[in-house]
Amino acid sequence: MRAYLLQRYGGPERTELSDLRKPVPRPGQVLIRVRAAGLNPVDYKIREGKLRAINRYRLPVILGNELAGDVELPGAGVSGFSKGDRVYARVAKDRLGAFAEYACVEADLIAMMPHSCSYEQAAGVPLAGLTALQCLLDELGVKPGMKLLITGGAGGVGCFAIPLAKWLGAEVTTTASPRGADLVRELGADAVIDYTSENLGDYARRFDGALDLVGGDLQQVFNSVVSGGQVVSIAAMPEPRTAELDLNKGWQLRTLFWLISYRLRKQAAQAGVHYRYKFMHPSGSELAELTQLIDAGTLPVKIDRSFPFEQIDQAFAYLESGRAKGKVVVKL
Ligand SMILES: NC(=O)c1ccc[n+]([C@@H]2O[C@H](COP(=O)([O-])OP(=O)(O)OC[C@H]3O[C@@H](n4cnc5c(N)ncnc54)[C@H](OP(=O)(O)O)[C@@H]3O)[C@@H](O)[C@H]2O)c1
Repeated sequence: MRAYLLQRYGGPERTELSDLRKPVPRPGQVLIRVRAAGLNPVDYKIREGKLRAINRYRLPVILGNELAGDVELPGAGVSGFSKGDRVYARVAKDRLGAFAEYACVEADLIAMMPHSCSYEQAAGVPLAGLTALQCLLDELGVKPGMKLLITGGAGGVGCFAIPLAKWLGAEVTTTASPRGADLVRELGADAVIDYTSENLGDYARRFDGALDLVGGDLQQVFNSVVSGGQVVSIAAMPEPRTAELDLNKGWQLRTLFWLISYRLRKQAAQAGVHYRYKFMHPSGSELAELTQLIDAGTLPVKIDRSFPFEQIDQAFAYLESGRAKGKVVVKL
C-alpha cells in the first residue's frame, strides 16, 4: 500500500510516499481502507520533531492523525463495526498512520461517518472538531449568554469552534483578517475583530472567557477577559496541568511545562484570569456526538482545499502557509 512516511525529523524533504505492506489489525483494532485524510498543523510539528518531548516515535513512521474510510476488517474482539461501514477517526497519538491506503485504528476511537458528508468532508472533522468540542464543553463550560472570544476563527479548529459555541448559546466574537471575515460571519460569529487593523487592547474586560487558537503573546487576550475568567489555549505554551490532565505524564514534563509557561502564567495571574493549555484527546464516543450534530445540520464542515494523495507535499505547503480557511484534506 502507499503511505506517507517520515524518515527523519526535519523539513518536508524528510517525508516520502513509499510502498509498504498492508497492516493487520491487532485485537481491538479495525483495519480501515482510507478514502481521505485530514491535515493538521500537528502533522508538520511532528515532522519537525517539535513534539519529541511528548511522543517519541520510532522512525520511520507513517504520518497522519485523522481519516475517513471503509471498514475492511474488524480485528478480534471488535463489535459494533462491520466490513463496509463508512467510518472516521482521530487515530491514536502514539501510533499515527492516517496518511496511508490502509490504517489499523483502535475501535474505541472510531465513529460512523455523518451520512451527509463525503469522505473528504468527514476526514476534516475528527481532530479539529473534537478539539473545539472538548475546549468549549470540558474546559470553558460554555453556557447560554456567555460572551466568548475565539482568536483565529477562520482556521481548521475555528470553523468548528464558532458554530459549536453558537449552538451552546454563546455570544461569539472572533479575530480574523479580511480574508476570513465572510467565512466566520457565515459560521455564526456575532462580531469580528480584524486582527490586521484593530487592536485587541481596545476590548479590555469585554469577554467572560476566551479560546485561543493562535498562540504567541496572550497579554491582550488575558486583558480582554473579565477578572476570574478562563483563557484556554491550544496554540500557546503547555503548562503543568497539561502534563498531568491531558498527557498523564510525570514530574519531568510537568517541570518543563512549568518553566516554559512561566511568563504566560504570570501574565494571566496579573490580569486576574485562569490560563489553561489543552491537548485534545481522541474519542470515538465524542466523535459520534459530532456525527449527530453534523447530520442535524447544526455543525457545518468547511473544507478549504482537497488534494490528491500524490500531491500531499503541496497540501502541506498550503497548510503551512498558515492561510487555510477551514480544513485541508487529501483524497486517496
Ligand atoms: N492542543 C491541541 O490539542 C491542538 C489541536 C488542534 C490544533 N492545535 C493548534 O491550534 C492552532 C490552530 O490550528 P488550526 O488547525 O486551526 O490552524 P490553521 O487551520 O492552519 O489556521 C489558519 C488560520 O489562522 C488564521 N490566522 C493566522 N494568524 C492569525 C492571527 N494572528 N489572528 C487571527 N487569525 C489568524 C489564518 O487566517 P488569515 O489567513 O486570514 O490570517 C488562517 O485562516 C495550531 O497551532 C495547531 O497546532 C492544537
